[in-house]
Amino acid sequence: MTEEIMANISEKEILELWDNRARDWDIQVGEDGDGNRILNSDPVLWSFAGNVAGLSVLDAGCGTGYLARQLCLKGASVTAVDFSPQMIEIAQFRASQNNLDIDFHLDSCTELKSLPDEQFDLIISNYVLMDLLDLEGAIRAFNRVLKPSGIAILVFLHPCFPQGDSTTVNEDGTVCYSWASSYFERTQRNDQPWNHFTTPFIWFHRPISDYWKAFKAAGFSVDEFEEPRITPERYHLAENDQKLFNSKTRPYSVVFKLQKVKIIRNS
Ligand SMILES: C[S@@+](CC[C@H](N)C(=O)[O-])C[C@H]1O[C@@H](n2cnc3c(N)ncnc32)[C@H](O)[C@@H]1O
Repeated sequence: MTEEIMANISEKEILELWDNRARDWDIQVGEDGDGNRILNSDPVLWSFAGNVAGLSVLDAGCGTGYLARQLCLKGASVTAVDFSPQMIEIAQFRASQNNLDIDFHLDSCTELKSLPDEQFDLIISNYVLMDLLDLEGAIRAFNRVLKPSGIAILVFLHPCFPQGDSTTVNEDGTVCYSWASSYFERTQRNDQPWNHFTTPFIWFHRPISDYWKAFKAAGFSVDEFEEPRITPERYHLAENDQKLFNSKTRPYSVVFKLQKVKIIRNS
């Protein structure tokens, strides 16, 4: 068990922030994911996932659902969970527009109360873990709802190279990362709105070792780990030279592939 995070916000308040920005999130990711996902992390995610056809898959923290729709189009049987009613409403609307049969649940990843034990072959949680107050609870819930030997693919912001207000891009394109407090402190971060967003982004910094410990404690083995970056066959997809340079030189995220090796029940 790692130390508690220093935070002055409740899960209900975090939910309200996500709820209020659901429409803007839909603009951000659209049908295909945003630039970072397309250039960097989605290719790793799909290579870790392999052929998903016929698998029972949970998209945990689905947002407006671009990934759930892609999983469905690839032949998976998809359940998608988010705690924000607005996110789920948009995701449901977009799935129905595309005639896709996705089982949506309004639920918190930290317990996944609406889902039974041992239901899924695969869980994908795409840029969600750094937003959770209770990381350990969520990883235990992922273990519970996975079948024995099931796989979890977890994409989240790189804890060592924070984005948002901790990053300054210089005129020559080089980047400075600044730490307001110790890297080892588990702290709430409040980033100013970026791009078209109008509300601040609250997230929780934890050292990368906390994630590793949470995975092991919940009964997972770590099978693969990657720090996504652009590969040459995707260079042409970068919107401009700055974005290409960023994707070649800056890690935005990490991707873990875990396997359920133990069943650990809450006492
Ligand atoms: C950064 S967005 C990512 C959304 C989506 N996975 C994507 O890649 O577009 C984080 C999402 O996690 C959801 N979320 C945050 N905390 C959650 C929790 N405790 N339980 C369920 N969903 C949560 C938010 O509502 C939001 O939709």
